[in-house]
Amino acid sequence: MYKKLIYLAGAALVMAACSGPQSAQDKLTVNDKKIDAVIAQMTLEEKVNMLHSKTNMSSAGVERLGIADMHYADGPFGIREEGVPNGFQSAGWKLDSATYFPTGSALAATWSEELAYKYGTGMGKEARLRGKDVILGPAVNIQRLPVGGRTYEYLSEDPILSAALALGYTKGVQDQGTAVCIKHFAVNNQETNRGSVDAQVDERTLREIYLKPFERAVVEGGAMSVMPAYNKVNGDYCSENEHLLNEILRGEWGFKGFTVSDWGGTHSTMGAMLHGLNVQMTGSNYLGQPVIDSIATGALTEDLVDEKVRQILRVRYAIEAIPDDVANTQMTSQPECQDIALQVAEKSIVLLKNEGVLPLKKDVKKIAVIGQNAVLKTQSGGMGAGVKALYEVTPLEGIQKRAGNQVEVLYAPGYKNFPGRRWGPAPAVPNPLEAQAIDEPADPALLAQAVELAKAADVVIFFGGTNKSIETEGSDRSNIDLPAGQNEVVKALYEANPNLVTVLISGGPTDLRQLEPVSPAIVQGWWNGTEGGTALAKVLFGDIAPSGKLPFTFPAKLEDSPAFAMGNFPDKNAGGDLFSLMYRQDVLKMTPAERQAFMDSLPKPVSKYTEGSLVGYRWFDTKNVKPMYAFGHGLSYVDFEYGVLNASAGKKAVKVSFDLTNKGQMDADEVVQLYVHRVDAQVEWPSKELKAFQRVSLKAGETKTVTLEIPLDDLRYWNVEKNAWDLEHGQLQLLLGSASDDIRQKAGVTI
Ligand code: BGC
Repeated sequence: MYKKLIYLAGAALVMAACSGPQSAQDKLTVNDKKIDAVIAQMTLEEKVNMLHSKTNMSSAGVERLGIADMHYADGPFGIREEGVPNGFQSAGWKLDSATYFPTGSALAATWSEELAYKYGTGMGKEARLRGKDVILGPAVNIQRLPVGGRTYEYLSEDPILSAALALGYTKGVQDQGTAVCIKHFAVNNQETNRGSVDAQVDERTLREIYLKPFERAVVEGGAMSVMPAYNKVNGDYCSENEHLLNEILRGEWGFKGFTVSDWGGTHSTMGAMLHGLNVQMTGSNYLGQPVIDSIATGALTEDLVDEKVRQILRVRYAIEAIPDDVANTQMTSQPECQDIALQVAEKSIVLLKNEGVLPLKKDVKKIAVIGQNAVLKTQSGGMGAGVKALYEVTPLEGIQKRAGNQVEVLYAPGYKNFPGRRWGPAPAVPNPLEAQAIDEPADPALLAQAVELAKAADVVIFFGGTNKSIETEGSDRSNIDLPAGQNEVVKALYEANPNLVTVLISGGPTDLRQLEPVSPAIVQGWWNGTEGGTALAKVLFGDIAPSGKLPFTFPAKLEDSPAFAMGNFPDKNAGGDLFSLMYRQDVLKMTPAERQAFMDSLPKPVSKYTEGSLVGYRWFDTKNVKPMYAFGHGLSYVDFEYGVLNASAGKKAVKVSFDLTNKGQMDADEVVQLYVHRVDAQVEWPSKELKAFQRVSLKAGETKTVTLEIPLDDLRYWNVEKNAWDLEHGQLQLLLGSASDDIRQKAGVTI
């Protein structure tokens, strides 16, 4: 009771402080009067019924009062296949094939808020066709660990880049009349022990790095719902975290919508009710009957239930429910959305290295495509983020189609496919093309076959990387090594034919120390959606210039990256992953009380974030560690010339302008990046931080004047003593470049 009173008083104070019109959230309150009148007609049971799942992917409305159920859809890269009401198994529908959009890190490699917006419109449109109200996405956590199982789902290691993309995606979805449920709030940076790990992070790092993407999507983008993460932050589960949900999200950011726990991520009745959760997904053991019982004993008030229902109804009223006879009457995947997926894929591909092999020469007559990843479909797998795509063009198909009849395309698998973590039973008869373990060495017969092909071809395109059984929700990779003997294969191919291009098909970084010296050209090709193969072929053949930039650092070796270098990850303290435990036979047989006692008895895993804000390139730059490929890196087929940087500091923003010229023979895009280094700082800062960027399209030979702005607000730091944002005045060195390690122009300003 004591805690509750504090919450109510605290919330009232903060709400008064931010009740101005500055937040896109205010739009959600327009129906509040109507909503209060409806709530007055509801029974307590009807209200509580809205606070937990109805099916695996819906929560209840009140039919009697014309309030429709809320339908959720994974997200974030395509509207997920329809499941049976009480699980994720396929419902066997025919019209639920969706567009598979490029995964998170691929979208982020476009460095384009505009493309993120378009992407969001595509997702929002297809959600409506399926009768879905809320997309469980975007997924915007910072990529802290190169091995992170969800690195491919998340956007970037940088908060400014992640925030811009999160904002674009959110607006795009919501402009289609669908709500986002931005996830996973917050500090969800590892899958290891994800159901119990306590992320211990200092307040300044929390604010400047981990919360930024959420903040922009909520405050500027008006995100209507938020999914608290599985993990704890500084001691409390995210689904009952007073600081995150009540003080920051609702209090400071003025969030007016509702929160939905991650599936199985609700942990108590009182904690969830008092500290900011609206809907338990899935189940009702905490936010069902126990809420009614707690009101009967006086532990909770009905007013609190009303408040939660009001927050849900605001979104229900803002999103038009699609009648059952209108939803699912046409195929989910639509041509205009497939086209958006293609546009994003085209701009996401990163040319990491090129010693003149690319684009492929016009006189190439025979291409050897080597590698399982050239034929692998990447739409499914990875758990929640899988998509049943209407179609998916694989890299090999893309190359074959673009090559046409004049060019012969040969194919060999080169290495065995690799199951990291098998979803479902192993096949009764083992597949000879499937490795038993990720680190199984190259298969001699497959290797010999690939070498023969390479010798006979004009050019070799080797497809390596990972797959979605090793980069997946639910587990982190144990290292970033290339699986199944790929290093051995590429070395042998290079010896057979040095005219070789390596394409990496993965969502996160891999260790390229062995592969790089034997690959004259390297392309990061991502998991690039329905049209991934088409986009890749366009880049390889030179129909378009590559223009993606890395949204994260490729460390030379895993141990160089901050959390590993600091000994912060992995935590040796074994705990239990919520999901693996929930399905363990002995745990299944326990009573709820026994299960709780068992969970409580487990060691409590922690993740210490003592590297602070030195995440990704901030660490590599500050500590002078050379990565394999730096954040923001990505080559083109043309050169860009950066003119002199003019800079000025005003009352609200720092402004820069400069001329950018395409010196090449073809049209191309460049992503210009503006970093800030503090010259005379009293406060501690990373060596430099990205503060503005822009994708610029230039015709062959064209010059454009580019202007960029850094709002002074983005230069503030979180002052822990004042518990507020603060601006440190002084000198800034502005660093303008094509990558974080390729700075072309500098200028100084004083703020
Ligand atoms: C994932 C969420 C997902 C949910 C529903 C959870 O396991 O963490 O990202 O939206 O399942 O599929």
